[in-house]
Amino acid sequence: MSTDVTSPTGSVRPAETGAATARAFPNLALVKYWGKRDESLILPVAGSLSLTLDTFAATTTVQLDPAGEQDRFELNGHLATGTARDRVTTFLDLVRSRAGSQSRAIVRSVNEAPTGAGLASSAAGFAALATAASAAYGLELDTPALSRLARRGSGSAARSIIANVALWHAGTDDESSFAEEIPAPELAMVIATVDSSAKAVSSREAMRRTARTSPYFVAWITSTEASLTEMVAACRAGDFTQIGEITESHALRMHALIASTEPPIRYLRPASIEVLDAVVALRDAGIEAYATADAGPNVAVLTRPADAAAVATRLGEILGEDHVRVVGPGPGAHLVPDPVPPAGEAGT
Ligand code: PMV
Repeated sequence: MSTDVTSPTGSVRPAETGAATARAFPNLALVKYWGKRDESLILPVAGSLSLTLDTFAATTTVQLDPAGEQDRFELNGHLATGTARDRVTTFLDLVRSRAGSQSRAIVRSVNEAPTGAGLASSAAGFAALATAASAAYGLELDTPALSRLARRGSGSAARSIIANVALWHAGTDDESSFAEEIPAPELAMVIATVDSSAKAVSSREAMRRTARTSPYFVAWITSTEASLTEMVAACRAGDFTQIGEITESHALRMHALIASTEPPIRYLRPASIEVLDAVVALRDAGIEAYATADAGPNVAVLTRPADAAAVATRLGEILGEDHVRVVGPGPGAHLVPDPVPPAGEAGT
């Protein structure tokens, strides 16, 4: 068991024990990341902006295992194999090469996002892994450096390092592509889970197909850059209406882009469209609500905190209240004292 010490900034670091635990939250993009200009460095074709949430954390312990022959990855109390384990090992190889270490590791992770909530994305997972692994391997990284590192696991993870509203600069190389917090008015999200089955095409594959086959891809890049500039200005000005309008139009543009691939991909389902219509009706009734959706059928509705309950009530009438959840702005990835227990022990 590691001896934890609390640093002057209040974060908890392992004292040369080779073990650390970190917690990170998912984020929902208001200006979306869709498309890579560099697949291995994970540099996006354009910048993006998101809200880090206060719900559905991923908590990850990384414990060095110098005698181990390979990394061990336990997710939600089960030993992970195949692609999930390979992605963790590829990521740890990067950390090891920077730390000058050969040591394998045991990684234990618990993801609180319910399967199919549309938030079980890799963002929280890789943000927590980057934070825990860099501490366990003794890398001293500041927040931009952690954001760059998390980006290598999954692009959107660069934003989950950051609290509240995160602006991910597209950048042109590893150094210039990272996220940072920007000021914004207080926001809330109502997450509407319309379908909990696994998505048919991964975002990684769908991004590739988009770049290869969509006739709209160049227009997407230039229009995303314009939307991002307007969005940053709206955040700085505290203009909720403008933030909402850009959020909804940019999400619909992303889904139109994705539908323009060959063969086409459609993530939105009939129930998603029903929620989109309900959001328009809420606005007509004077409640400011704006819809967005990631690479899946579930819809997240951006609203002012004061209106979140009314929006949740309306969407609950359509989907059932179990399918609706109000979330708010959350913290960036951070170290925590309590390790994730090994598979098979209580609490996983
Ligand atoms: O980071 P990835 O590979 O999971 O891609 C995320 C893509 C979207 O969620 C659809 C958009 C975004 O900006 O998060």
